Amino acid sequence: MSKEGPVIELRDVWKIYQMGEVTVEAVRGISLKVNHGEFLSVMGPSGSGKSTCMHMIGCLDLPTRGTILLEGKDISHMSESELAQVRGRTIGFIFQQFNLIPTLTALENVMLPMAFQGIPLNERRSKAFSLLNLVGLSDRMYHRPKELSGGQQQRVAIARSLTNDPRVILADEPTGNVDSTTGKSIMDYLSKLNKEEKKTIVMVTHDPELAKYASRVVNIYDGKIKQKGD
Ligand SMILES: Nc1ncnc2c1ncn2[C@@H]1O[C@H](COP(=O)(O)OP(=O)(O)O)[C@@H](O)[C@H]1O
Ligand SMILES: [Mg+2]
Repeated sequence: MSKEGPVIELRDVWKIYQMGEVTVEAVRGISLKVNHGEFLSVMGPSGSGKSTCMHMIGCLDLPTRGTILLEGKDISHMSESELAQVRGRTIGFIFQQFNLIPTLTALENVMLPMAFQGIPLNERRSKAFSLLNLVGLSDRMYHRPKELSGGQQQRVAIARSLTNDPRVILADEPTGNVDSTTGKSIMDYLSKLNKEEKKTIVMVTHDPELAKYASRVVNIYDGKIKQKGD
């Protein structure tokens, strides 16, 4: 891994969706650099292109135009399988909707991504135990999602996002479905990961109070970064 240069760089990135006759310019020329160890908060109204940006940075989707570099590597033209490899090595994703599997316990949900990487069962189990410990859920290992509060479910999702020891964590409105007290505790975990584990974090939020946890805030309007004075 190179420590030189930004960990994430977007150069004039566009995402244009063609829906039959209708063209949607979701992202319209975003350029952005995120350095190692930064905690960046992305704010902006609904529909302004935040999730689209996160999906492209997270190797879940490709830009229509422009260049995205992850740790200096151009991911803008990669195939599905190349993207999956980079994603698996580099990125941990936390979603607003938690995206846990309802029939699996907390422990099994955290173990699952490691199964795809061929990690042996014992190792999967012990890593999942220690990650659930880290997020304060050692007493909820065998609960299924519906037996957990929203905040606890999001902490399971945070633990799951850490299984591949990602250098970058992308969190898309991670506190959107929890109350404000729980939201603050989730932010405390993200802060801890940033400060103690040196994870680079990009987080989308609506809440200016939560944006304060970040070391830098970027505002997106209408698919573009709003500069001071715009
Ligand atoms: N898969 C898609 N197909 C077509 N249009 C989309 C798709 N995803 C998002 N959009 C549109 O792109 C714009 C930006 O969406 P999004 O990135 O989800 O915004 P935000 O996360 O800021 O609320 C919206 O107008 C949305 O309707
Ligand atoms: Mg969104």
